[in-house]
Amino acid sequence: MSDIIRIAIQKSGRLSEDSLRLLKECGIRFDNGAGKLKTTATNFPAEILFLRDDDIPGYVEDGVAHLGIVGQNVSEETDRDVDTIYNLGFSKCRLSIGIPRATGYQGIQDLQDKKIATSYPRILSKYLKSNGVNAEIHEISGSVEIAPGIGLADAICDIVSSGSTLLSNGLKEVEVVMRSEAVMIAYKQMTEGQRAILNQLIFRIDSVQAAKN
Ligand code: PRP
Ligand code: ZN
Ligand code: MG
Repeated sequence: MSDIIRIAIQKSGRLSEDSLRLLKECGIRFDNGAGKLKTTATNFPAEILFLRDDDIPGYVEDGVAHLGIVGQNVSEETDRDVDTIYNLGFSKCRLSIGIPRATGYQGIQDLQDKKIATSYPRILSKYLKSNGVNAEIHEISGSVEIAPGIGLADAICDIVSSGSTLLSNGLKEVEVVMRSEAVMIAYKQMTEGQRAILNQLIFRIDSVQAAKN
């Protein structure tokens, strides 16, 4: 069988549309009918996998997918052994700490001994440590913004893009922990044939990016 590369993108979420658009702008044609988890491109040696973004770095580390498009936030939190090969410049967001709007805030020391809910325990704990703050990190996998309102935590640390999720949950942003954008990550042990396909793809991404600047 001739070489093919498997590209993992987010099934549904903030990165999905931009990731699909990038592949289409690169001239890669495929059918992504609703609910499809895998599809084969019709004019490029690639398969597209539609996965939960948090799972993508693990699949790429194992070589189940050869390339993945994820946020730097997810890549850093999962800390897998992959190569980050392209800063894509879309799906920009912040990983931020939020607290209830009515709560006063002088500075990061106010988080001392507080309980913070997050899906990013690794990044958050590094950040708190580097700021000399000791807080209790409560890991939850989704709907983090609800935690203060139901008495589960004093603060949250989650992705902020438009800010509308914070707003509609009565929270305000008080610290930016990291800024993030979409990146392409790659499996470290691709075959020569796969690398050749990757180089074609990178050439196309370069052209798409150049046209935007
Ligand atoms: C993030 C975050 C919020 C939302 C914030 O989710 O968890 O739900 O985006 O965006 P807003 O400021 O525009 O309202 P993300 O897309 O990273 O997906 P996931 O948590 O489901 O992986
Ligand atoms: Zn996610
Ligand atoms: Mg979310």
